[in-house]
Amino acid sequence: MNISDVFERNKKWVASKLEVDENFFSDLSKGQKPELLYIGCSDSRVTAEELMGVKPGEAFVHRNIANMVISIDLNVMSVLNYAVNHLEVNHVVVCGHYGCGGVKAAMDAADLGILNPWLRNIRDVYRIHSDELRPLNEEDKYRRLVELNVEEQCINLIKTAAVQQAYKKRNLIVHGWVFDIHTGELIDLKIDFNEKLKNIMEIYSLD
Ligand code: CO
Repeated sequence: MNISDVFERNKKWVASKLEVDENFFSDLSKGQKPELLYIGCSDSRVTAEELMGVKPGEAFVHRNIANMVISIDLNVMSVLNYAVNHLEVNHVVVCGHYGCGGVKAAMDAADLGILNPWLRNIRDVYRIHSDELRPLNEEDKYRRLVELNVEEQCINLIKTAAVQQAYKKRNLIVHGWVFDIHTGELIDLKIDFNEKLKNIMEIYSLD
């Protein structure tokens, strides 16, 4: 990839948008009212907007290695609070993907320096679910850990005051999805949000 081509491609993109709708950018500049916060992986192959088929303005997006929701990560917590409290999104999605390098790295014994504390959160997911994961073969274990990691990050969302209050106030819903990088299919893990919420509120309720 030649980096200067980016600007040529941008010019073509602007022209293509204006060709369809001459007000495209003036409308965009008026503000945003997305319905959805998408928290996904930084993986270059898992492009949030493209895989969901959404247009600019429709999804508020946060991406990090292995789509993690960590309570002391100021970045994800700021995005979450802004999206839920100010933009008032009604859906928060955690989207993982099969073939996730971050999840794979957490399954291997290796010192990855600054990544160690980040990946340790995925190792914690493995530990919580080790009875289910241990008997599986490597490939199944890898796929299942991707799914369980999504589920645990959804639970981490439910532990936040922002999500608990928005649920009470306007029925905000948390969703867990997986993108299958081998087929392009987006899979809804159908996590029972109400049940998860009920199960953890005894310990994590903040109001
Ligand atoms: Co990934």
